[in-house]
Amino acid sequence: MIPFVNLTGQREKYRFELEKAEREVLESGCFIGGPQVEALERELSEYIGGTFTATCASGTDALTLALMTLGLQPLDEVIVPDFTFIAPAECVAFLGGIPKFADIDRQTLQISPESVKKQINPRTKGIIAVNLFGQCAPFVKLRKIADEHGLWIIEDAAQAFGATANQTKACTFGDISITSFYPSKPLGCYGDGGALFSANKDFILKAKSLANHGSTGRYNHQVIGLNSRLDALQAAVLRVKLKHLDEELPLRRQNAAKYDAFFEKYNQGAPSNKQIIPQKIAKGNTSTYAQYTVLAESRDYFIQKLDAAGIPHCIHYPAPLHTQPCFSDKQPRPNSEWASKRTISLPVCAFTDVDSIIAKLNF
Ligand SMILES: Cc1ncc(COP(=O)(O)O)c(C=O)c1O
Repeated sequence: MIPFVNLTGQREKYRFELEKAEREVLESGCFIGGPQVEALERELSEYIGGTFTATCASGTDALTLALMTLGLQPLDEVIVPDFTFIAPAECVAFLGGIPKFADIDRQTLQISPESVKKQINPRTKGIIAVNLFGQCAPFVKLRKIADEHGLWIIEDAAQAFGATANQTKACTFGDISITSFYPSKPLGCYGDGGALFSANKDFILKAKSLANHGSTGRYNHQVIGLNSRLDALQAAVLRVKLKHLDEELPLRRQNAAKYDAFFEKYNQGAPSNKQIIPQKIAKGNTSTYAQYTVLAESRDYFIQKLDAAGIPHCIHYPAPLHTQPCFSDKQPRPNSEWASKRTISLPVCAFTDVDSIIAKLNF
């Protein structure tokens, strides 16, 4: 069985370092916050450069905390991509705001700046831009729009810690940026975890306080907050994996390049209704390839072939957000609808043998 993300292969490689780090935490008696979490926050800031960091309990919480830090109020509108995981839209709605869905670009699958512009009205407060599948959103254009309309940007880099755009690291493009340490993410722990990043120290101090019951000191609660803390065991695991991230990312990119070459050759001989087109990586971007996602004209046919070869696959995402029953904005977003019928993702992590997957693919 080929795993979609080979976490056991990764653990095997770092076993000695991981077990040492885990043992140290278990024997320290310090399980929430403390030196491991502080060291991780320092190391994450150093990795990104020029940023302050607050860890928290998940990527979803990081988005919620970012919105709370930026002062989102009930009925405020926030523009989010229509084609992504639910969390960005969910967090806005959870806080009483209204998510407005922007359509996407059919090639990069990223939020479309033109569609963002169309959603802006006097109630709009900001944009949450997702670095989908590991590729940074078009932040130059988005920042221009945000500045013109006095909006903030939250960069959702849940899938893209370690990505770059024009040699600038992900997690630096938002007024606040966030990531997720969900186990299968490019930098993942062994449970839930997340972080917020900002060049604005006050934002990070506020987010830290909000993540700790809105407290500014022991039993002193200025505002209503959450319990959203990263635990020391996750921090210790992440510190080990962070050291190896820049070894893993080139391997992910090499694996993606192998698929690219394979599908390019395949498409030359395939009829138009069987073409398989990889997500376009825009010029100047390097992706983390959270997964390797393609647009398959005949997705069911492709799935049959993958199943016959025992190759795992996932559909990210089978339904645009505006079609989810929990949201009321039902206006059509044609590109997002188009993509949701075609996308399919393949394994690509640093511990995946892509050569053997390609050898099994037989159309
Ligand atoms: C784009 C995006 N944002 C936010 C999240 C939420 O992260 P978490 O699962 O850590 O809450 C995810 C998780 O898959 C995601 O893909």
